[in-house]
Amino acid sequence: MAARSERVALVTGGGRGIGRSVVLALVRRGFRVAFCYRSDTAAAEACVQTATETDGDVFAVQADVTLEADRTRLVDTVRDRMGAIDVLVNNAGTTEDGVAFRMKEAWDRVVDLDLTAPFRLAQLVIRGMMSNGWGRIVTIGSIASRLGFPGQANYTAAKAGVEGMTRSLAQEYGRRGVTVNTVSPGFIETDLTRDASDLARTYVENYSALGRFVTADAVAEVVAFIVSDQAWAVTGQTINVDGGLVKL
Ligand SMILES: NC(=O)c1ccc[n+]([C@@H]2O[C@H](COP(=O)([O-])OP(=O)(O)OC[C@H]3O[C@@H](n4cnc5c(N)ncnc54)[C@H](OP(=O)(O)O)[C@@H]3O)[C@@H](O)[C@H]2O)c1
Repeated sequence: MAARSERVALVTGGGRGIGRSVVLALVRRGFRVAFCYRSDTAAAEACVQTATETDGDVFAVQADVTLEADRTRLVDTVRDRMGAIDVLVNNAGTTEDGVAFRMKEAWDRVVDLDLTAPFRLAQLVIRGMMSNGWGRIVTIGSIASRLGFPGQANYTAAKAGVEGMTRSLAQEYGRRGVTVNTVSPGFIETDLTRDASDLARTYVENYSALGRFVTADAVAEVVAFIVSDQAWAVTGQTINVDGGLVKL
């Protein structure tokens, strides 16, 4: 592990999948890391255990980021335990697919989690980042925003919204030392894609430059770079980590 810095990172949905890889990648770079999860306490505890074995300073908080009270409690808890939040990684997200003409509450549920929660959390941390003159906000998007998969109007719209939010916040806070970016994975092997159709797998194999699903660790390494000092000139961007599936 790199020498521990005083920088504090908050990762949403850090117990499993891509979020877990992000937590561990930031720990390896010496960040002190807090993460939240919604319900899988066993996975969260296992992630803390793994991080602690490498001498990481990590803790987990149960919080549903779609709930205002939970978001406030989460941010307050991290500040109390670790101090000002320097890095926010909005990772928690979900899909709830269905044909558009029948989609009712699934629209709101996906937009609430994948778009509104990242914005509300950014609002809660950005003043502290401005006061320190340094901050990093990364939201995990999806190449769905570019490709527009059928049955995913809610998810595609939310992830496209994240990219717009990113561009706007980057312009608003760049002069205060805060960078804001979106990292957009392609198809990654996680619980979210466990039931991916054969069609999706064939599509990736045939049409991506690398011809394979990407790993959560590969996404996490890009996030870790974006939140580093060295990435100071990268802001307002959407960086695809998709094995070359999106061509434009
Ligand atoms: N997997 C892919 O192929 C893929 C591709 C493109 C983009 N993405 C994006 O990458 C991000 C992570 O996806 P993933 O595949 O790693 O998902 P995942 O394996 O399903 O894990 C989701 C994580 O988010 C947490 N979470 C879900 N709802 C939450 C809520 N309301 N409040 C707080 N935490 C919540 C879960 O907590 P619990 O463990 O407690 O349930 C879990 O830790 C998402 O934004 C997703 O849209 C994924």
